[in-house]
Amino acid sequence: MANFIRLMLVVGLFYGRSQSLSSGAPPKACENLTPIHQYGSVQNSPPPYQVLPAAGQGRVRLILGSPQGLAYEGFIMVARDVDTGEFVGEFVSLPDGARVVECTEGLKNGVTHINKDRKQNLEFDWEAPEDYVGTIIFNSTFAQDYSTYWVGVESPRVSVLRRSIDVKTVPTAATSPRTTTPPIYTPFAEDRAPVADDPFYNGCGTTKNCFGTPDNCVRDKNCKAAVSVLVRGERYFFEMTARKSIYVAVGLSADSKMGEDSVVECVNNGTAVGLFTSWNAGKTNTRHSTPSGFVQFDSGIVTDDTITCRFWREKSTIVEGRQFDLVNTPFHLLVAAGSSLRRNGVDYHNVAYAASGEAKLLSDVGGFLVASNLLIRVHGALMLAAWVGAASIGILLARYYRQTWVNSQLCGKDQWFTWHRFFMILTWSLTIAAFVIIFVELEAWSTATLHASFGLATTILCFVQPFMAALRPHPGTPRRTIFNWGHWFVGNAAHICGIVAIFFAVPTTKARLPDWVTWVMVAYVVFHILTHLILTFVGCASDRQASHRINSFPMKDMHARSAMTHPDARRDAPQAGLRKTIFGLYFVIVACFCAALIVIVVLAPIEETWASLTTTISKY
Ligand SMILES: *[C@@H]1O[C@H](CO)[C@@H](O)[C@H](O)[C@H]1NC(C)=O
Ligand SMILES: *[C@@H]1O[C@H](CO)[C@@H](O)[C@H](O)[C@H]1NC(C)=O
Repeated sequence: MANFIRLMLVVGLFYGRSQSLSSGAPPKACENLTPIHQYGSVQNSPPPYQVLPAAGQGRVRLILGSPQGLAYEGFIMVARDVDTGEFVGEFVSLPDGARVVECTEGLKNGVTHINKDRKQNLEFDWEAPEDYVGTIIFNSTFAQDYSTYWVGVESPRVSVLRRSIDVKTVPTAATSPRTTTPPIYTPFAEDRAPVADDPFYNGCGTTKNCFGTPDNCVRDKNCKAAVSVLVRGERYFFEMTARKSIYVAVGLSADSKMGEDSVVECVNNGTAVGLFTSWNAGKTNTRHSTPSGFVQFDSGIVTDDTITCRFWREKSTIVEGRQFDLVNTPFHLLVAAGSSLRRNGVDYHNVAYAASGEAKLLSDVGGFLVASNLLIRVHGALMLAAWVGAASIGILLARYYRQTWVNSQLCGKDQWFTWHRFFMILTWSLTIAAFVIIFVELEAWSTATLHASFGLATTILCFVQPFMAALRPHPGTPRRTIFNWGHWFVGNAAHICGIVAIFFAVPTTKARLPDWVTWVMVAYVVFHILTHLILTFVGCASDRQASHRINSFPMKDMHARSAMTHPDARRDAPQAGLRKTIFGLYFVIVACFCAALIVIVVLAPIEETWASLTTTISKY
């Protein structure tokens, strides 16, 4: 008989396809919220739904929602006194899709659905009896669909205190006491954040930890890639989202860098989203070949350009011989997204990458700070100063200005030579410093990216150049020609590699540079090449004017004697004034390019810094 009643309740409550979900729960369901266990499937996983109470004007406002943005078809909710277990109060201001249930006859002390439409964030109010003092809990059951439901989803406790004013002095007290003696509610839960368009961000900072990139994107709800962690009892519910990506991954790390991290990634293989686990050994990510038991796939979807995926992770696991105890150990979160895959794994995170700057217990809800990338900015600034600035100027001087400013000497050498040496030593020092800094930051040797490969080539070429120069043969000897060519070749190759490396640095996720920086670099390259062309023509004109006395075109210099030994070398070649003007212009414009690029790199992400700057300024 009992079973029969239970069966009838089930049929009446959620699971009968025709009647049940369309009409909501009957009063008998109030008692235990769980009419039957042997039919349908009660979910033992932490519920993806929650009831959030907020203090209102003499009422408690309730929001029935899901931090993961999941909809529900059915629900029933009651309010009970924590101590006595009795139903308390009445539900009012119900939205469409909900109706009251008289758990106790004549009292609206339960609430349920009236149709099986998919619902999200239903809101309604609850009122306490006028003289009630105590603590209550809202207890509920959510049905995701007719066979998937969670029973006994409890809200935070709400304490209700009668207002300590003398109601008798209020004339209308006798007729409508409730309006004159509204109770004061002190919900333990914080007020819920406004409902966002993207449900991923619902509950960030209040019920779950969220971390994403670029900076402040969780607040602005526009992350390129983000992860959230919701703690539900013994298990941890992760949700990841990324735009324009084939995969999105989250790593748990003891520090804010890649290396020794347990990674879980969701991959869109074209037909479905799959879950994998992997390990970061240094900067290399290796997928675990056998499925790991410590994660459980929940769901994954790809919409338009966004991949979203959810999974559960056990609270404590051993991965690659290391313990990942999420309950007691604070972790850094790494989030990464990319648009390509390798065989048996994911490729470089070319869409987004960020590491949280602080380690936190994942149950400790609140914002994450992004790890400082100061050293990366310094690396960028030094390399720009070296290759856009010093090297460009130094090379120009050596190539076109050997027959200019020849009347005076500096440090016992020709002007062009002293300045060439100065700028090249500057380039060398800046490059070596930037190279050391990037290895301090990354703590690993990696040539996985084109930026790293060209950067390494630049540094090696740059490094050997002064040693070659120091060993140069005496002017006029046959080996001097070979040296000149070698010196020219290595220097220019280093310069080209350096500029190419800077181009490849712009899209790297760690640099956080806007795409238009590429066009600034293009403008610099065009300007640089134009200057070379103009100086070459000026050089030719100068040659024609003075072909009897001097070779100012440097290529000839390489084949023949050194200009310095020429009898007429103490006079500037023709067109010196024009060359000096061009140099002045070139110097100023290159310095501007260099300064602008350094500012962009140091203040990256520049668009955000700029926006906050203009907001600050407009306040005054
Ligand atoms: C909520 O309902 C569930 C299922 O009936 C029950 O096990 C649990 O004890 C209830 N919680 C409270 C605080 O009444
Ligand atoms: C994609 O993944 C799904 C589920 O993991 C699998 O059933 C399907 O065969 C995969 N498709 C391809 C093309 O690999």
